[in-house]
Amino acid sequence: MKTAVVYRSHHGTTEKVAGMIQQALGAGNCALFNLKTNTNIDLGAYDRVIIGGSIHAGNVQNKVKEFCNKNQDVLLEKPLGLFLSCMDEQQAQDQFNRAYPEVLRSHAKSCKITGGEFNFDRMNFFEKLIVRKVSGVEGSVSKIDGEKVQELLSEMAD
Ligand SMILES: Cc1cc2nc3c(=O)[nH]c(=O)nc-3n(C[C@H](O)[C@H](O)[C@H](O)COP(=O)(O)O)c2cc1C
Repeated sequence: MKTAVVYRSHHGTTEKVAGMIQQALGAGNCALFNLKTNTNIDLGAYDRVIIGGSIHAGNVQNKVKEFCNKNQDVLLEKPLGLFLSCMDEQQAQDQFNRAYPEVLRSHAKSCKITGGEFNFDRMNFFEKLIVRKVSGVEGSVSKIDGEKVQELLSEMAD
């Protein structure tokens, strides 16, 4: 079974989670597509699709939204997984619900909030300022939720 993992990542977290999924499934069975550089993805070659994005200032990347809208019909014909990187645990579910259209969330075999990171090495001056002010965090922190990634994999396998 061939899986396409389609993602967008600003500072590397969602890319790491996509890599964890690929490692678990095996590189021969799982292709990664970064929406930063590749938006015309032929999903016809894949049996199932997993989509991942991350939240910045309350919203998922436009490229994730555009990909979901443009490919909605074909996504509804395949087993689908959705995941999201974010750091605000209180807002996480609302952010998830706004990130992915209802029709895809109801169709998906698995929907997971997979935690997040603050990666200060990859933030610009203003991003560091915002993160310090909003979260009070002063340095890099990683809270990727490996259990949720495992749950995503097992729910996709069912
Ligand atoms: C400038 C900035 C704004 C952010 N805003 C939010 C937010 O509104 N809600 C949230 O839950 N997480 C927020 N985050 C945390 C990101 O979702 C987290 O860093 C995530 O791991 C980023 O994933 P990525 O590196 O794949 O883009 C923000 C992070 C940055 C740097």
